[in-house]
Amino acid sequence: MSFRLQPAPPARPNRCQLFGPGSRTALFEKMASSAADVINLDLEDSVAPSDKDQARRNIIAATHEIDWNTKHLSVRINGLDTPFWYRDVVDLLEHASERLDQIMIPKVGCAADVYAVDALVSAIEAAKGRKKRIGFEVIIESAAGIAHVEEIAASSPRMQAMSLGAADFAASMGMATTGIGGTQENYYMLRDGAKYWSDPWHWAQTAIVAACRTHGVLPVDGPFGDFSDDEGFRAQALRSATLGMVGKWAIHPKQVALANEVFTPSAAAVAEAREILAAMEAAKAAGQGATVYKGRLVDIASIKQAEVIVKQAELISAA
Ligand code: COA
Ligand code: MG
Repeated sequence: MSFRLQPAPPARPNRCQLFGPGSRTALFEKMASSAADVINLDLEDSVAPSDKDQARRNIIAATHEIDWNTKHLSVRINGLDTPFWYRDVVDLLEHASERLDQIMIPKVGCAADVYAVDALVSAIEAAKGRKKRIGFEVIIESAAGIAHVEEIAASSPRMQAMSLGAADFAASMGMATTGIGGTQENYYMLRDGAKYWSDPWHWAQTAIVAACRTHGVLPVDGPFGDFSDDEGFRAQALRSATLGMVGKWAIHPKQVALANEVFTPSAAAVAEAREILAAMEAAKAAGQGATVYKGRLVDIASIKQAEVIVKQAELISAA
């Protein structure tokens, strides 16, 4: 094992990130009173170009006027390939209240993209004497983003979280689908004439998790477009949780409870993890490094696996 210890990611729940367009102010109070851990007010693709200026003003006002309670409050700015992003950063950092926690940078393609935003944010924070240091989250949603995923995860000490943006990612990769996450009809294996569906998002998710875990960043699954398909959302979220992601976006309020359910370790999973820890304590006391739990091997690595579940449950219940 490397002598360098894996850094811990930010110790806050990030089970669900609820999105809403910055142009739809009527949604803001509803978002604030939702059960999502993170709120993402959007200036990017859910806001028409003609509405960008007003959406910025709306969001700045909302940071002053709305009680966001314990929510982690993030604003998605426009991509660096647009004429909007610098004004998003300047106006937010100059005029938003100290309640703003984070900026989400979409379509990041390399570490220098984050560096550019960091330089601008750092200068404005210093000039304005802002007390809270703004965090960053990014979306990996292009071929360049996934090709440079590790340098992006390591790009700035402000980095808190990284999401997979399935729709833009699919477009950038030239994938033959219009689906936003989930099962894709044409991605299957054949055996004896029967179809077995596989997961086209799997490798990108795994690359994101590895980059994030290496650099102490929270890996998050992005949107699931079909908000009438609860079981599809749940299946996608369960796969993401199994791979090490800590949460998922909600693009409709009905997805919040589903994400919270999947990304909160169940009572049964926590109980089993605690039993494994107790079994290993007993083994250790008997001078053994391995023992049997419910007919299967548990050893010192099992302690680390069980601790992931117990610590996540403790972090969530302490929040
Ligand atoms: N946050 C909080 N509440 C929301 C909401 C959101 N993002 N979207 C809808 N609601 C509310 C509605 O106001 C409505 O409330 P009511 O029962 O008090 O009237 C209720 O939830 C049901 O809404 P519904 O009529 O089903 O949805 P809609 O047609 O108003 O909006 C979307 C559907 C998809 C357009 C909307 O949910 C949305 O804009 N989502 C976010 C899109 C986004 O930000 N995309 C960028 C990231 S991919
Ligand atoms: Mg996108």
